[in-house]
Amino acid sequence: MLDFVEINKDNIHWYCKFEKIFEEELNIFQSRIYPHNSDFFVPLIEKGLLKWSYLFYGGKIIGAIWLEKEHTCLRTAKLGIFIADKEMRNKGIGTKAISRYINENRKAMKLTEVTLNVRTENIRAIRCYEKCGFVCEQRYEKANGTRVMSMIKSL
Ligand SMILES: CC(C)(COP(=O)(O)OP(=O)(O)OC[C@H]1O[C@@H](n2cnc3c(N)ncnc32)[C@H](O)[C@@H]1OP(=O)(O)O)[C@@H](O)C(=O)NCCC(=O)NCCS
Repeated sequence: MLDFVEINKDNIHWYCKFEKIFEEELNIFQSRIYPHNSDFFVPLIEKGLLKWSYLFYGGKIIGAIWLEKEHTCLRTAKLGIFIADKEMRNKGIGTKAISRYINENRKAMKLTEVTLNVRTENIRAIRCYEKCGFVCEQRYEKANGTRVMSMIKSL
């Protein structure tokens, strides 16, 4: 059973366990495991600019998910997600988590679309996002040679 546990100042310290996994393995897939400006996450949450939760599955915290907006007047949020526990990947959890998280937060965040960036070689993530209704918006290459796809889902 998948649940979301909202991140707050009392449980943010659990996040540090992801940092080691990020250094060891997750950084192959993504450049960050934190939302932007996460040092100031409490006011961002209070202003409705950020929803950020642990993914809780089978009695364990297995990863995290967030939706972040750059400005309150915008109707677009960027999605971030990772399942740190390798054994929990490829079981449909990511697809369920993303669909539910967007549905549960779209009204409160006043969203009409969600966007994300994904490395083009990350086939599993792309497939997961497509199953959630995201489509490719554009492809580009970063200065460091990383090839990236921007994806979008209209709500
Ligand atoms: C990306 C991530 C959140 C997806 O969650 P998930 O629970 O693993 O994904 P799902 O199981 O819901 O969906 C994965 C799909 O990719 C497919 N897939 C996996 N590897 C594949 C491959 N090499 N080629 C084609 N399809 C592949 C799976 O079969 C599944 O599709 P299906 O249900 O049609 O069979 C998770 O894998 C993860 O955290 N990965 C590491 C970090 C990461 O990549 N973060 C995203 C950065 S943008």
